Amino acid sequence: MAVLVTGGAGYIGSHGVKRLLQEGHEVVAVDNLFRGHAEAIEALRSVGPGKLHFAEADIGDKPTLLKLMREHGVDTVMHFAALAYVGESVDEPLRYYRITEFVFSSTCATYGEPPRVPMDESTPQSPISPYGMSKLHVEHMLRDYANACRVTGKPFAYAALRYFNVAGSDPEGLIGEDHDPETHLIPVIIEAALGVREQIKIFGTDYQTPDGTCIRDYIHVCDLIDAHVAVMNALKPGDERFYNLGIGKGYSVREIIEAVRRVSGKDFKVVEVARRPGDPAALFADASKINSELGWSAKFTDVDEVVRTAWNWFKSHPNGYEG
Ligand code: UFG
Repeated sequence: MAVLVTGGAGYIGSHGVKRLLQEGHEVVAVDNLFRGHAEAIEALRSVGPGKLHFAEADIGDKPTLLKLMREHGVDTVMHFAALAYVGESVDEPLRYYRITEFVFSSTCATYGEPPRVPMDESTPQSPISPYGMSKLHVEHMLRDYANACRVTGKPFAYAALRYFNVAGSDPEGLIGEDHDPETHLIPVIIEAALGVREQIKIFGTDYQTPDGTCIRDYIHVCDLIDAHVAVMNALKPGDERFYNLGIGKGYSVREIIEAVRRVSGKDFKVVEVARRPGDPAALFADASKINSELGWSAKFTDVDEVVRTAWNWFKSHPNGYEG
């Protein structure tokens, strides 16, 4: 079975590629390298010699995608590439080729500001950002496509995995996180600890939370990928599955800063600034559904361990893949 991984040279996608190769799958990674890194693909070649095929292509490049799918006999797609027009572009290949399973990277941002936490999958989906809205659109497209397949008797199954805050890096240090610009909390704090960044700003200290700062659920990227593999292995024709991917516990911005201090042994400047527009006070998952249905739960439950894998990567790559 060949798996097409869109965004395969990106942060989460590359961790997915690694794991699929380790499981013995043939992997077709597609990435336009706008945000992804060719170095990640090169680093992964040794994991599955001869089994990794890479194409520098945009997911909107339909002829290339169709050719790759035909050549490699792709039957499953893991869709990590995240761009607003993605739904449209992946929809067409689905129609013309025999993709029978689709695992989609969705987000807790499809819920918007939740009425309560922890949030389970029945939380109303009411995004407050264009990002969350674009992901919700794709969930809806997949639902419509599944309905059409049901009517016409074509086998199709999909899962929308609603990520909370993905963090950490490959514990073996082969691949890691490299965003430009970097805005995510843990990498930004680590950059401050490394002196690459002058200071870390806390966006808002007047939230209705115990220490006044926002609370998030930080799931390790390898746990997240484990969940994808468990879901892919479980999908049966006709399935429509929705799972929250989080550890089920929230940490405040201040707690994450403390975790980076503990792990790195470094001190750095922290300044408190105004809220960042669009940040809900507290988001953390009730991830019991995937646990009871598929037996998945996060192995990285200690935030220091998550931060440690990130710290090890950034320490050896202070300028990302460029060294
Ligand atoms: N934060 C700071 N200072 C910073 C960066 C972040 O205080 O320099 C705070 C934010 O205000 C927020 C928390 O740290 O309260 C986490 O912020 P991130 O930017 O790391 O992540 P978000 O919670 O904003 O994540 C959202 C969605 C995810 C999505 C992600 C995409 O919840 O689903 O954006 O970037 F994947």
